[in-house]
Amino acid sequence: MDNKKKPGLPKMVGIGASVPDKVLTNKDLEELVDTSDEWITSRTGIKRRHVLREGEDPSSLGVTASEEAIETSQIDKDEIDLVITATNVSDMPIPGSSPFIVRDLGLSRDIPFFDLKAGCSGFLYGIDVASNLILGNGYENILVIGLEALSRVLDWEDRSTCVLFGDGAGAALVSSDGGGRTILASTMYGDPTRPELINLKGGGTRYPPAEGDPDDRRYFIDMEGKGVFKSAVNMMKKSSEEVIGRADLKLSDVDLIVPHQANIRIIRQLAKSLGVGMSKVAVNLEEYANISTATIPLALREVIDNDGIRSGDLVLMTAFGAGAAYGAVLVEW
Ligand code: COA
Repeated sequence: MDNKKKPGLPKMVGIGASVPDKVLTNKDLEELVDTSDEWITSRTGIKRRHVLREGEDPSSLGVTASEEAIETSQIDKDEIDLVITATNVSDMPIPGSSPFIVRDLGLSRDIPFFDLKAGCSGFLYGIDVASNLILGNGYENILVIGLEALSRVLDWEDRSTCVLFGDGAGAALVSSDGGGRTILASTMYGDPTRPELINLKGGGTRYPPAEGDPDDRRYFIDMEGKGVFKSAVNMMKKSSEEVIGRADLKLSDVDLIVPHQANIRIIRQLAKSLGVGMSKVAVNLEEYANISTATIPLALREVIDNDGIRSGDLVLMTAFGAGAAYGAVLVEW
């Protein structure tokens, strides 16, 4: 990589997103587990989620989101010099998801690519890694993808988890050049004390797949809901304040917050703790539920489609998730 070029701050030049067309409503879930539309709506704000059909390819969502990000960036796909796929559960434990996405994007030259695992904060971690590689290592165009097929690893008999998640992908192209959408500051952290707050234990080297019955609950997502709730608010607040401070700005300067979409009560509490009104907060979890790494690019794409961001607006993104990993990104549009 050419380190001689001294780039300015990196830009988020293209955004894309994709969700499966199959929808599962809260009413549909009432048929599967002992729950109700009323419980799910009042506790989480979620009404529907989009899920892959049997046989549908998870990485195809990442490919579609990436194609849209590339198209809206007006950068040729062969100018991409790194692909980072943030995902909690890859297409395959080996080789992950990135190799499939890169193949299906039809890139014509060899470039590096890797999967990144940082829970629901993976997309923002990816933006931070991409920004730093652009600033310090001469990379020019990095595709960051958030891809999740969580419906495939949910216990559809566990009402405490299966109502919360959905499938989808989002992508952003981060570039050294391009007009507007400047990444003013980004940060990533993790609380080192609670690795298992949200987990899927089976299938790794601690609980190898050959050892277990595939119906074993260790093969599904599990979490400590209340613990997640409290940490999510605190950590998203902390990382938000940090990026605002680093950019020498104030929270009152922020025009739009795009938080990770896990639960409307978490989002409301975050907004309250930051002293920001909900009119400045993007919310779309009613339609998609929690798609982990894909929630932020998907919500951002929807706001853009609705002409909800003007040139010069300050957009703050923040997330918290598995591994107790959290982070924030501040972009001037
Ligand atoms: N339908 C009906 N009842 C349900 C239910 C469902 N889908 N899921 C759980 N319950 C029950 C519980 O069994 C419990 O019953 P009990 O009191 O008889 O034991 C009761 O509802 C209350 O459960 P509780 O865990 O106290 O609810 P809560 O108010 O904490 O809400 C969450 C649960 C999961 C919605 C909430 O903790 C949450 O959103 N946490 C964050 C989770 C998250 O977003 N994770 C991903 C972050 S990246």
